[in-house]
Amino acid sequence: MIKIWTMHVMLFVFLVVGQLVNASTPEEEMETNIQNLLQKMTVEEKVGQMTQITLGVVSKERGDELFVNQLDMDKLKEAVLKYHIGSFLNTNGMANTLENWHEMITTMQDIATKETRLGIPIIYGIDAIHGVNYTKDATLFPQSIAMAATRNLDLVREEGRITALECRASGLPWNFNPVLGVGREPLWPRFWETYGEDLYLTCELGRAYIEGQQGNDMSQKDRVATCMKHYLGYSIPLNGQDRTPAWIPERMLREIFLPPFKDAVEAGSPTVMVNSGEINGIPVHSSHYLLTDILKKELGFKGFIVSDWEDVKRLYDRDRVATSPKEAVRMAVMAGLDMSMVPHDYSFFNYLVELVKEGKVPESRINDAVERILRVKWQVGLFENPYPDASLKSAFATEESGKVCLESAREAITLLKNRDQVLPLDKSKKVFVTGPTANLLSVLNGGWTITWEGKREELYPQEKNTILEAIQSKVGSENVLYEQGCSFEEIIDVQKAVRKARESDYVVLCLGEPTYCESPGNIDDLSLYPAQLEFAKAIYKTGKPVVLVMVEGRPRVITEITQQADGIIMAYLPGMDGGTALADIIFGDVNPSGKLPFSYPRTPNGFTTYDHKPLESFDVNAYNPLYPFGHGLSYTTFAYSELKLNKRTIKKGETIEIAVTVTNSGQRAGKEAVELYVTDLYGSVSRPVKQLKRFTKIDLKPGQSKTMQFTLNEQDLSFIGRELKPVVESGDFEIHIGDQTQSFELVL
Ligand code: BGC
Repeated sequence: MIKIWTMHVMLFVFLVVGQLVNASTPEEEMETNIQNLLQKMTVEEKVGQMTQITLGVVSKERGDELFVNQLDMDKLKEAVLKYHIGSFLNTNGMANTLENWHEMITTMQDIATKETRLGIPIIYGIDAIHGVNYTKDATLFPQSIAMAATRNLDLVREEGRITALECRASGLPWNFNPVLGVGREPLWPRFWETYGEDLYLTCELGRAYIEGQQGNDMSQKDRVATCMKHYLGYSIPLNGQDRTPAWIPERMLREIFLPPFKDAVEAGSPTVMVNSGEINGIPVHSSHYLLTDILKKELGFKGFIVSDWEDVKRLYDRDRVATSPKEAVRMAVMAGLDMSMVPHDYSFFNYLVELVKEGKVPESRINDAVERILRVKWQVGLFENPYPDASLKSAFATEESGKVCLESAREAITLLKNRDQVLPLDKSKKVFVTGPTANLLSVLNGGWTITWEGKREELYPQEKNTILEAIQSKVGSENVLYEQGCSFEEIIDVQKAVRKARESDYVVLCLGEPTYCESPGNIDDLSLYPAQLEFAKAIYKTGKPVVLVMVEGRPRVITEITQQADGIIMAYLPGMDGGTALADIIFGDVNPSGKLPFSYPRTPNGFTTYDHKPLESFDVNAYNPLYPFGHGLSYTTFAYSELKLNKRTIKKGETIEIAVTVTNSGQRAGKEAVELYVTDLYGSVSRPVKQLKRFTKIDLKPGQSKTMQFTLNEQDLSFIGRELKPVVESGDFEIHIGDQTQSFELVL
């Protein structure tokens, strides 16, 4: 009896242990499945996975009908069945309705999964830059430059989460965002897609956005795969124009431009899009050094690299580093590119199939690319369920999401000047609203809104408020006079505007930029358009108090009209609820708390950043922006005290604890972004005069104090040394928070 019992136990133990030994983790299971699939694939099927085509290629000609895209079934079948296309992108001209997206994605997945030999699902990529801007009525957040002004990681994470949910609700599992290029060139028309000039801010906000989008598991039905872009160095073209050469020395590349991508790779972003331009004479799409040596090998990136729009071809027909379109394909793929956003034809497919068959591209390179692509398809859950989830429709653009969006705009908008506390304005007085940005929704949103350039004002949701409408609904139309007065580049009717200004108690003068996206937004001069400057001067002559509101994606130079303005508000591109948020701030229902994520230039050439070198701090070289990075006023005041360090000397491997007390010393509740800067007093390579190392946002009632704690480690003190490798050096450092300073020594 005992013997039988013992045998049973042994058998049980044997089976369990056996199971444990054989059991594979989900990761191993995924890898096995990918390998199995890969082995079955033909060269054509593999290359098809590496090819991405735009929606227009498989759609019927667009009629006048809005928001309805129709697939052309013959073209779609040709793409998926003949060319084995594995990815589509974009919208065909304008945003689609949720239903339209569902129908289209369902049709595509039906063909890909049911009518092909291997049933590999399509991965659809979209630019959801400030919300799902290509789905009608989505929640549209402030653009990234404005999100950076909030200094609020929770809001950025929430933006990521809500955008992911609304992407998935549209059936779209892959988002071409966040932009991780550090914005150090304000002329560049894509400046507003960045988180501004600071490296640390870009790293932190990028990471928060990715966490919000992907959660712990991007296969969940309300999460998406992010795409870091644009790798690398796109955000600092030498002449300020989009898609022009950058010259970035290795030290700068590694110290300023690479870290946000490194952090994002660590945060698990599984795809990356390549910079359309060139660095140091090498188009990035052809750079084995940047794509393979640094990204894939040094940073250990396991995901896939997608080209930007048409950029493989451009190696031949624009950059001329390839002598034929076919050579361009070989060059890009051998540099490490995994997927080509072709996007209008099948040339990439045809050339690459030929190149593999001719032995000019080894099949091992193709296998590596396809493995990476299939892995992401797997991770994002497409093999499990490639279809849009109808149950998410009810979670699309909810009131709750709208509140986060509005809160983001409120926390972004930055009060630059408030002479004699002109703001907030008295709701019972008469206000004259004027200027080219006063009564348009498009200007609040900028590019990537409903259409690529965001210009089609007639497509904007009419229930949303322009600045004028928001002010009218706040204080009653009877208290508001309006006259556009001036367009972006021409004065329309200055007399009428001046007359109405005279009849009012205050003027809200709304200036700034029209909408633009990418290269069409190129400008030669950062100065605000002369007509707007003249218009402002005419309004000032009335002697009425003027609040200048700047609605713009980059800091247009306004120095000659700042002196006479009583109040200046930087609105950036505050998104669909920007008008409402501005009215809340102008009339004091919300206390502003935004801080500039860039140095506002005083002159068209004044591009020195706050983290400049000592050499840029002297006499005629001195950093002298109109408003510095981090500037932003409140309707209350904050006092900083008792900055304390837990030690004066730190040794190798130790951390240092920092505490500071912040008090709301004014009369109103308010939010304050507390920023910790470090100065490395001496270094073997000249060090920035200060660098942001920590920040947090707090909410204080009048009279309330909070003590904030921060920890810094050795890594926070490292830099790229003379040998172009990260180094940490012994020496003296200073910590600055508010007006407080303390010092410590690092002894290695
Ligand atoms: C832009 C990218 C974008 C892509 C797809 C390109 O022109 O540079 O940022 O993701 O188009 O729309």
